[in-house]
Amino acid sequence: MRKITAKQFVRTQSTSLWRYVVDEAIWGSLFWVPTLVGVGLRYFFYGFLLKNDGFFYVDNNVRIKMFSNVILGKNAYLDYGCYLHACPSGIEIGENSVIMHNSVIHVFNFVGLPHASIKIGRGVFIGENSVIRGQGGVTIGNDCLISPKVSILAVNHSFASADLLIKDQPLDAKGIIIGDDVWVGGGATILDGVKIGRGSVIGAGSVVTKDIPEFSVAVGNPAKVVKSRKK
Ligand SMILES: CC(C)(COP(=O)(O)OP(=O)(O)OC[C@H]1O[C@@H](n2cnc3c(N)ncnc32)[C@H](O)[C@@H]1OP(=O)(O)O)[C@@H](O)C(=O)NCCC(=O)NCCS
Repeated sequence: MRKITAKQFVRTQSTSLWRYVVDEAIWGSLFWVPTLVGVGLRYFFYGFLLKNDGFFYVDNNVRIKMFSNVILGKNAYLDYGCYLHACPSGIEIGENSVIMHNSVIHVFNFVGLPHASIKIGRGVFIGENSVIRGQGGVTIGNDCLISPKVSILAVNHSFASADLLIKDQPLDAKGIIIGDDVWVGGGATILDGVKIGRGSVIGAGSVVTKDIPEFSVAVGNPAKVVKSRKK
C-alpha cells in the first residue's frame, strides 16, 4: 500500500488546510443535529461552504467532503447518511432532486482525469444505497428515476500489462451520459463509456455495457434492447 501523508490526506478532504479546518469545524458541529432544526442550521451554515441557489435540505448524518466544489439546487434533498465526495472536481445536484439514504456520490480524482465530475439534473430521484463514481464524468438528465442499489461507474482500471499490479496501471475513464426521463431499475450497473438515451427504461439487475437508444426498454446482463416505448 502507498503511504498516505497528512498533506495528501488534507488534499483529499478540502481545497486548502484553512478550508479543511473551517469545513470540518462546521460539519462536525452540525452534521448530527436532528429534526428541522438541524436542517435549518445546516442550510444556514453550509450555505457559506458550498454554492446553492435557494433553500436545500440536508438531513442529519450526511457527509460532505470538498464543500467548495458542491452546488445544490433549490429544494435539493440529501437524505440521512448520504456521502458526497467532490474532490477535486465538482458535484452538482439540480433543483428538486432527491438523493436517498446511504447513497454515495463520489468523484475522487487525483490523477488529472479531465472530465471528472458528477452532474445530476432537475427533479431526479436517486434511490437508497446507490453509488455514482464520476472519474470520467457522469451526467444524469432531468426527471430521471434511479432505483435503489444502482451503480453508475464512470471509470475502469487498465490491465494491459500482466507484469504490473492492476492498481499501478492507468485509469481509463470516458464518462457516462444518462438522458432525461430515464428509469434505471434496482441493482442495475451502468459501465463507463455508455450513453442511455432519453425516455429509456433499464431493467432491474441489468448490466449496461453499450449505448441504449432513446425510448428503449433494455434488460439483462449484458443489457439488450427488448422493446421500444415508441409505438
Ligand atoms: C423492465 C421492467 C420495467 C419491465 O418492463 P416491461 O416493458 O413491462 O417488460 P416485460 O415484463 O414485458 O419483459 C420483457 C422481457 O424482458 C424480460 N425482463 C423483464 N425485466 C427483466 C430484468 N430486470 N432482467 C432480465 N430480464 C427482464 C422479461 O422476462 C421478458 O422476457 P421474455 O420476452 O423472454 O418473456 C421490469 O421488469 C423491471 O425490471 N422493473 C424494475 C423494478 C424496480 O427496480 N423497481 C424499483 C422502483 S424504485
